[in-house]
Amino acid sequence: MTGPVSEAPGSPSGARSTLVTDIGELVTCAGEGSAEEALGIRQEAALVVADGRIVWLGAAADAPAADQRVRLGGRCVVPGFVDSHTHLVFAGDRSAEFAARMTGERYDGGGIATTVAATRGASEDELRTLLRGRLAELRAQGTTTVEIKSGYGLDVATEARLLTLAREVTHETTFLGGHVIPPEFRSDRAAYVALVTGPMLGAGAPLARWIDVFCEPASPHAFDADEARAILTAGIAAGLLPRVHGNQLGPGPGVRLAVDLGAASVDHCTFLSDADVDALAGSDTVATLLPGVEFSTRMPYPDARRLLAAGVTVALATDCNPGTCYTSSMPFVLALAVRELRMSPAEALLAATRNAATSLRRTDIGRIAVGSRADLAVLDAPTHLHLAYRPGVPLATAVDL
Ligand code: NIG
Ligand code: FE
Repeated sequence: MTGPVSEAPGSPSGARSTLVTDIGELVTCAGEGSAEEALGIRQEAALVVADGRIVWLGAAADAPAADQRVRLGGRCVVPGFVDSHTHLVFAGDRSAEFAARMTGERYDGGGIATTVAATRGASEDELRTLLRGRLAELRAQGTTTVEIKSGYGLDVATEARLLTLAREVTHETTFLGGHVIPPEFRSDRAAYVALVTGPMLGAGAPLARWIDVFCEPASPHAFDADEARAILTAGIAAGLLPRVHGNQLGPGPGVRLAVDLGAASVDHCTFLSDADVDALAGSDTVATLLPGVEFSTRMPYPDARRLLAAGVTVALATDCNPGTCYTSSMPFVLALAVRELRMSPAEALLAATRNAATSLRRTDIGRIAVGSRADLAVLDAPTHLHLAYRPGVPLATAVDL
């Protein structure tokens, strides 16, 4: 297979439309029906992109002229991955905590305080450099949209700094002042909730689209149902859209709270009751699974098949963070979903693209269709099956057109 080749014979530089041809398999994720059908796979197809949007899609034989042409040498094209859950703005290192877990320690969220201390101590420039490096990693592995949470500042100034930095690189910014109770508030949880719902939200809301909370009574560091509800309700009143970290470490109220408040997504969903699954199935709330977390914490995996059987919309994301899962790789998460969550390759790819877009309430990304954003990932492989079939092999890259 030869590399992508660009040619612009006789076209002026700064060409505005690009014809993409020699696509091995075009996976649009824009079909209807079963997961296989929803992949909407097209052979011998071509695309025209202009001003960052797909303006034509059809049989290569019918392709119109464009200002320039990119030949993909038989590579597979899929929608760029939508990583709908990350914590990319942080400083410090917790590899020793990971090593301790691999020899038997349990994760309970206590290590977050280590990252908070390092992040508060870092300069804005240091944090920007770290963030941009991580973002380059994501893009190099096929991710074209990223959601980024605050949550390692946990004071007004640092939370605002993290959101300001995140906003430099994405529209999908999430205020997570309700990540854990920081050490200085351990003896007065109510005072911290008042800070989050008051001045911290006041500073964070103009910089964020979303509000999130770590609702996990099983952790002494995270928030119970009442605290989480207070934080989310205040965020909604300030114009933010809710999403929730729930049911990660044990059974709990996170999923039902998310559904009750009309959250776009509840993330983790590892320990679910039948009532939780029923509530999700009857709602518009997406269940976002983060199997890299279970991989990196040696916890049981979530039961994706149970959710899919109930008709719940399932998304996949990395949760890229220094504590529970320091991977930037959506292909790795997809391979885990197929191997460990028993999702089919089609279900996993839809979950990492179209369904992840749904979890961000977006229809302009996560699929390849006329009018959608020209956010594409090219695989150095003939079919999408290679994503799970060749785990750990760097096949996917985001393309700039
Ligand atoms: O999504 N669950 C809470 N927050 C992160 C972990 C953060 C950390 O340990 O630094 C998560 O897993
Ligand atoms: Fe998270």
